[in-house]
Amino acid sequence: MKFDRNLRLAALIALTSFSCAHQKNSDQKISVIDSKELKVGPKDLNFEKLKSLTSELEVPFTKGTSSNTHTIVGFPLINVLNSVYGDKWKSFEGILFTALDGYKIDIPTSRILKYNPILGYRYKNPDLAFTYDSKGTEGIIDLGPYYLAWDNIAHPELIRDGGYGWPYQIGQIETIRYASYYSKVFPFKKVDPAIREGFEAYKKNCMACHALKDQGGQKGPQLWPYPPLQRFGREKFTQWVLNPQQLAPQTTMPALNPELSLKERRILASKIYLYLAALHKSKN
Ligand code: HEC
Repeated sequence: MKFDRNLRLAALIALTSFSCAHQKNSDQKISVIDSKELKVGPKDLNFEKLKSLTSELEVPFTKGTSSNTHTIVGFPLINVLNSVYGDKWKSFEGILFTALDGYKIDIPTSRILKYNPILGYRYKNPDLAFTYDSKGTEGIIDLGPYYLAWDNIAHPELIRDGGYGWPYQIGQIETIRYASYYSKVFPFKKVDPAIREGFEAYKKNCMACHALKDQGGQKGPQLWPYPPLQRFGREKFTQWVLNPQQLAPQTTMPALNPELSLKERRILASKIYLYLAALHKSKN
């Protein structure tokens, strides 16, 4: 009798997972909303709807240094945004992705327009489960319903940004303007593009560890109010950011993206400095 019950349970589980797998596509929806300006959404786009909005695209990519290439199939994000918002989303500075567990990352609109990522939903190879092996840290991770994937074969410069900009389990997309989403740390209405780029570089390379005005991570000291600016000056700041171990051998702060050339790193460091100096000057 007991045996029988176990068997039934097993059959039930098999059936459930079979029907889940079967239904998966039509259930994997993504919500598209905006920052109330465009009066769009929230719109729930399910798989069939996405399919009706745009044809699919295959994106080959490689993970970091490994020569192993995979191909992901999905919906080109630019097409999806165009059909929901028209052209207007392009005037926003960023697109914010929210994962099912609440993880958020915003990616500059300029980067999306330049590289046209897809909302990937499966590997081209039907034998591969749509997962990623984090090798211990979090185990095997489900990438679906949607994984933002970039063609880093056609654009090898993307490889140098490591894991930046590949959110998975995306459940929601929205448009943002820095001045409202980052009102404390980006209090500028009109701003020099170099300062915006400095802020984007700061967000990408520093914010996970350092807070400004309480916005950001806690691994390093809060950089606001900003004593290093006066204490370091631009040259020493650049030196610190490019090679912190040279000034403080014990520090755990990593050097600014060593994958870039020295020239690129210097330019980034000085844009970050420009941004911090502008923030320091602003009265907000
Ligand atoms: C992985 C975490 C991490 C990242 C990423 C990081 N830092 Fe740091 N940073 C630290 C830590 C920790 C310290 C404390 C210095 C020490 O170890 O003595 C620090 C110190 C500093 C200081 C000196 C602060 C002071 O008052 O002495 C500055 C300036 C600084 N970081 C700027 C930056 C900038 C700009 C970036 C991005 C390009 C950045 N950091 C990225 C962790 C980080």
